[in-house]
Amino acid sequence: GPQRAAEVRSLIRDVPGFPHEPIIFRDITPMLADGAALADVVEAFARLCEGPDGHAIDVVAGMEARGFLLGAPLATRLGVGFVPLRKAGKLPPPVERVSYDLEYGSAAIELRTGTLPVGARVLLVDDVLATGGTAAAAAQLVERSGGEVVAAAFLMELAGLGGRERLSGRVVETLLRVEESAGS
Ligand code: PRP
Ligand code: MG
Repeated sequence: GPQRAAEVRSLIRDVPGFPHEPIIFRDITPMLADGAALADVVEAFARLCEGPDGHAIDVVAGMEARGFLLGAPLATRLGVGFVPLRKAGKLPPPVERVSYDLEYGSAAIELRTGTLPVGARVLLVDDVLATGGTAAAAAQLVERSGGEVVAAAFLMELAGLGGRERLSGRVVETLLRVEESAGS
């Protein structure tokens, strides 16, 4: 409920100016270190996939690195597999790759070819939705690899940075929402 959400929110540390201005870094490590809060977060994600109105999925996919920390326990909780969407250069070939723009420069994420069963119903999971660049690339990567993105779920949405707009046409689920005009 809202009280548990407030407790989880209080365990996410806001760090203005990290790694540089004007970004406000959202540090989830205090939440991860708190057993009850971590369980609450995983449970809240799980509820998105349960019941008659829940998303029926075959696999959870998480974006390196913080998406791994939330996606893998969620997959275990739901009894499905977990697929890591890795930063470029970490996986041996053959891989599928999608590049995306950052504030300065670009980045790429990769998925090992053949990891996803064709037609797999995928839930994307990450900690933060900011500009949506990471999530949009992740969704493309899953689709290029033969999967279907059923929804993208985030612990925290930084509203005002365009993430939801970038993902328009997709189902976006967020557990916490904060108003923000700059930073990630
Ligand atoms: C952060 C965060 C999200 C992404 C959100 O990851 O964990 O994945 O940025 O920003 P966006 O919506 O503007 O793409 P980051 O790449 O900093 O690295 P990490 O997860 O490896 O710590
Ligand atoms: Mg990340």
